[in-house]
Amino acid sequence: MMIVFKHSTMMPFFSFTHYKSFWRSSIAFAFAFAFFLTFLLIANSLTLQTQSTTIPCNKDPYKELNLIPNPNGTVTRPNKPPQSPPAPDPNLNTLVLSKDLSINQSKSTWARVYLPRVALDHSSKLPLLVFFHGGGFIFLSAASTIFHDFCFNMANDVVAVVASIEYRLAPEHRLPAAYEDAVEALQWIKTNRDDWLTNYVDYSNVFLMGSSAGGNIAYNAGLHAAAVDENQIPKIQGLILVQPFFSGTRRTGSELRLENEPHLALCANDALWELSLPVGVDRDHEYCNPTAGNGPARMGMIKRRGWWVLVTGCGGDPLVDRQVQLVRLMQRKGVRVVGHFTPGDYHGVQDRDPLKARELYGW
Ligand SMILES: *[C@@H]1O[C@H](CO)[C@@H](O)[C@H](O)[C@H]1NC(C)=O
Ligand SMILES: *[C@@H]1O[C@H](CO)[C@@H](O)[C@H](O)[C@H]1NC(C)=O
Repeated sequence: MMIVFKHSTMMPFFSFTHYKSFWRSSIAFAFAFAFFLTFLLIANSLTLQTQSTTIPCNKDPYKELNLIPNPNGTVTRPNKPPQSPPAPDPNLNTLVLSKDLSINQSKSTWARVYLPRVALDHSSKLPLLVFFHGGGFIFLSAASTIFHDFCFNMANDVVAVVASIEYRLAPEHRLPAAYEDAVEALQWIKTNRDDWLTNYVDYSNVFLMGSSAGGNIAYNAGLHAAAVDENQIPKIQGLILVQPFFSGTRRTGSELRLENEPHLALCANDALWELSLPVGVDRDHEYCNPTAGNGPARMGMIKRRGWWVLVTGCGGDPLVDRQVQLVRLMQRKGVRVVGHFTPGDYHGVQDRDPLKARELYGW
């Protein structure tokens, strides 16, 4: 499984960078290093055993999230985070062109496609990163400035085409709506005749990627896609799960330790699941907890397809123990997984800090 770049040697996907990087000389070293980081983190006194303590929510989670629930099951989102327009004109002085393409009008789903300008000069085919934005399944858009900037920089630095998918949000559209939209997006990518896609995308070199809730979507969409006829979707090489958003009925050590973490308070976290999971299921449902129920069995599909999986996380994220558990379970299941965990930071750091983002896709 390789991404081939114009200037690069063949590398596992987590090294998809055209920058000179120290592990370029040794794939084996990169692996050893990644596994070392994983185990360092695990060994580093993380209390991995889950606990069943339920923390009473003494704050109003809707207030925390700035959400107003409506009697008809929808929510009002008073915050209007800044959005950025696409820039499709090749005469513009920009390193990356972008444009919005409709996927399914009846669902208002679409993709913002990013094309690095260098692709226009060299008619080589580029890898495609299919990106799913974060926002707890409830918030934000592919047009949100934070994700626009993230995808713009990633397309430029990695030299890849990026397709950032606008999927339907909960609670108006509960899961699995977002996963269905993601799979539909993959089918659309395969059949759409848009010239950016057909001229510049290597359809055999596609990765599903997402941060936070987007990481959850990339994972579950991957499992859904693995069940679809292979001829209907482009050839997926791997999943890139950046601080993926998972939960469960029992609290982990890091959740208890970081209960009031300002970027992802546990109360708010619970409310997001409440609003996005199918009505009546608990948080050990397979959409939410990939290590419970038939989650481990479903993981076998990833192994059978031979996909690589990269899971990244950081010690300051309440969800880090779950991400480590996921990596350990995948390792036991024989999935080709690399965990990349760093100390400190917080949930969503790569969305807000361009340097952290660059560290991420330097991997
Ligand atoms: C639900 O209620 C909100 C607020 O009252 C309203 O704006 C919205 O149009 C309603 N949606 C539906 C589908 O009825
Ligand atoms: C769009 O979505 C609708 C509703 O799910 C579905 O019936 C229809 O087939 C989709 N259209 C296309 C072009 O895929």
